[in-house]
Amino acid sequence: MTPPRLCTFRSIVAGLATGLVTLSAGLAAAAVVGRPTQVAVTPPAATSAEQAKNAYRRPPSIPFPADNPFTQEKLRLGRALYFDTRLSLSSAQSCASCHNPAFGWGDGLAKGVGHGMKPLGRRSPTVLNVAWGSIFMWDGRAPSLEEQALGPVQSPAEMNMPIATLLERLDAIPDYKPLFAAAFPGEGITPLAIGRAIATYERTVVSGWAPFDSWIEGDDRAISASAQRGFGLFVGKAACSNCHAEWNFTDDSFHDIGMPDPDLGRGAFNKVAVKMKQAFKTPGLRDITRRGPYMHDGSLATLAAVIEHYDTGGVARPSRSDLMKPLGLTAQEKADLIAFLETLTGDAAPAPAPILPR
Ligand code: HEC
Ligand code: HEC
Repeated sequence: MTPPRLCTFRSIVAGLATGLVTLSAGLAAAAVVGRPTQVAVTPPAATSAEQAKNAYRRPPSIPFPADNPFTQEKLRLGRALYFDTRLSLSSAQSCASCHNPAFGWGDGLAKGVGHGMKPLGRRSPTVLNVAWGSIFMWDGRAPSLEEQALGPVQSPAEMNMPIATLLERLDAIPDYKPLFAAAFPGEGITPLAIGRAIATYERTVVSGWAPFDSWIEGDDRAISASAQRGFGLFVGKAACSNCHAEWNFTDDSFHDIGMPDPDLGRGAFNKVAVKMKQAFKTPGLRDITRRGPYMHDGSLATLAAVIEHYDTGGVARPSRSDLMKPLGLTAQEKADLIAFLETLTGDAAPAPAPILPR
């Protein structure tokens, strides 16, 4: 049984008390979550494996915050800004340079490359499914997408663009005026509007329907026997689900998983908690095959290398999570875990770049 294509499902609820929003054809298919068919109201008595599956079921709607509810106008403006290289001083880089739809919304590099081609300290994370995030950056230094968006624009290492220069530059591009006016009537071109529009666009970047989703909705042949065993290991012996929890496979929390790199991560902000030293935010795992190399430093090239890391338990030190320990996986179990991770890749085609304002 093949699930119906999600792009036919067009109405979503913009969560957190912002009411019902019907998205018109302007929204990319990738932005639509949920499933057009109904799930039984009274499910059969669940086994523990079934319960584990339930935790990973796709939510029916994208959450938008009450102070920045979804509108088509914000989406249109935010998409233009996201792809516009004129947001960088050199006019060479846009958000999409480092969070590129064609690279799983990352850049395919071990470390990002910033202004003047200088390498950054960490790998560019994906912006896929950030609508569900509650804290941002590998070290959690950004509290919201709205605030985060203006960080890379101004950062000398990244887009190196003083905000006053950016406002002047956008003001001189005639097509931007009506876009801002429609999205933020009477507000003009402001940093607040830029942050809100970009954040709105980012929230519509949602992973497509994956074979794993069909499987948890009851299609037993949607993924291989090996992948099904892999899921059993993921929530069982290997206990990956302790941290890679919920539908996007992250607890949105920080852990030291024993990577050898000396980067302090969350520990640079929280110097008191021993466990925050060298701790990084748990990344989501949906579409994970599309965005190696892995980890905050891009040091693990393949999923096989990631599994080897977990099998050894990583560097033992006081800050290492108590959830990390050598796993003693067999070759078959490692293969099963990889087969499972591969079923998380969805069917959404990379979002096309828009025609930019002139
Ligand atoms: C030069 C490459 C580069 C550019 C350009 C760039 N980013 Fe990033 N982005 C990064 C890197 C690297 C990080 C992680 C930095 C860290 O955690 O220390 C990051 C982190 C993020 C995150 C946090 C994701 C998460 O899950 O925590 C978001 C969201 C984001 N960027 C959005 C944007 C937006 C929006 C723009 C454009 C305004 C942008 N980025 C421009 C490289 C870039
Ligand atoms: C203690 C919490 C924890 C456990 C248990 C855990 N992870 Fe992770 N995982 C993380 C964190 C934190 C990172 C990012 C670490 C970094 O970048 O240094 C990560 C990174 C990853 C990545 C790379 C993602 C990316 O985008 O770079 C993969 C793949 C992954 N984990 C899979 C697994 C699998 C499979 C298991 C079980 C064998 C597992 N994890 C167990 C917390 C955990």
